[in-house]
Amino acid sequence: MHAIRVHQTGGPEVLRYERVERPSPGPGQALVRVEAAGINFIEVYQRTGRYKVALPFIPGSEAGGRVVEIGDGVSEVKGGDQVASQSFAGSYAEYALAPAERLVLLPAGVSARIGAAVMLQGMTAHYLACSTFPLAPGHTCLVHAAAGGVGLLLCQIAHRRGARVIGTVSTEEKAALAREAGADEVILYTQQDFATEARRLTRGAGVHVVYDSVGRTTFAKSLDCLAPRGMLVLYGQSSGPVEPLDPQILSQKGSLFLTRPTLGHYVATKAEFLERAMTVLGWVADGSLKVRIGNEFPLAAAAEAHTELEARRTTGKVLLIPWPPGCPRS
Ligand SMILES: NC(=O)c1ccc[n+]([C@@H]2O[C@H](COP(=O)([O-])OP(=O)(O)OC[C@H]3O[C@@H](n4cnc5c(N)ncnc54)[C@H](OP(=O)(O)O)[C@@H]3O)[C@@H](O)[C@H]2O)c1
Repeated sequence: MHAIRVHQTGGPEVLRYERVERPSPGPGQALVRVEAAGINFIEVYQRTGRYKVALPFIPGSEAGGRVVEIGDGVSEVKGGDQVASQSFAGSYAEYALAPAERLVLLPAGVSARIGAAVMLQGMTAHYLACSTFPLAPGHTCLVHAAAGGVGLLLCQIAHRRGARVIGTVSTEEKAALAREAGADEVILYTQQDFATEARRLTRGAGVHVVYDSVGRTTFAKSLDCLAPRGMLVLYGQSSGPVEPLDPQILSQKGSLFLTRPTLGHYVATKAEFLERAMTVLGWVADGSLKVRIGNEFPLAAAAEAHTELEARRTTGKVLLIPWPPGCPRS
């Protein structure tokens, strides 16, 4: 089969399209023919070496596709099932393995591509808005990078929970997408001081929670947006890692809460994983959560996909498509 492999860390050019051996499922595993692999920012951190991964490796953890083979002891899925997961071992590939207990059967009307597009970012948006800081009517939240993959889903979930949503984006085109997704107000943080704007939009009160995935360039000012006892949810670092922080600052700025959550801890048990995944997929199936696939690239063009993501030229989800249209089904 073909896959993308990384032999040394570096720029997008280290994502090499190669022929590799097709893996076989071990006990508890299923082999899936990947119809679409989701690209997530974590793979940029792994490719550059910011997050350590043993070399060489096939990047990617998210995909949707069809089960072609199962290992011993697997009862959750069978050959032919349409499934998705965020727990694949190397999904930038034509075939990938996942633990069967971390696969979900896709509901009717939800394609493998949509499954690949919503598992990781959808469950992330879900835990941020429903568990980390459970939004409710009366709350105001600020969502950075509101037209991004997580951002567009988070705006929709925050809106459906009755919160007032303020989004930040870099361009007018992204502003329109964020508004469509439920942002009540949008700040162009490349042109305006977003902390001043957030204060103005809340008549000086500040917001209850900031969901910050941008990190280095937004972190300090995100603290300035918060009402006393508000929460800064730092869940990413698209612009780079945040400088170390003196906890006294949290006191000075209003007895603030700071958390740095990660999806793994919010789907730690099989039960929590299934509940979160099926809730998100249920919303997609009934049309109440829209998934925007902004860009699709052939698997061989993974380097180009990373370049676009890092250059802030993408919106919504970015997918890799291993099997071009018209390719025989195996
Ligand atoms: N903790 C978790 O559980 C978890 C789970 C999923 C994702 N994440 C994190 O959430 C973040 C968003 O992930 P995503 O996949 O949805 O990506 P994304 O938001 O679609 O893409 C990143 C966006 O961040 C903004 N950005 C601002 N400064 C940037 C810079 N210097 N370089 C690149 N982008 C910049 C850009 O939007 P503008 O052009 O509008 O500024 C860009 O489009 C990532 O940091 C990711 O690691 C965390």
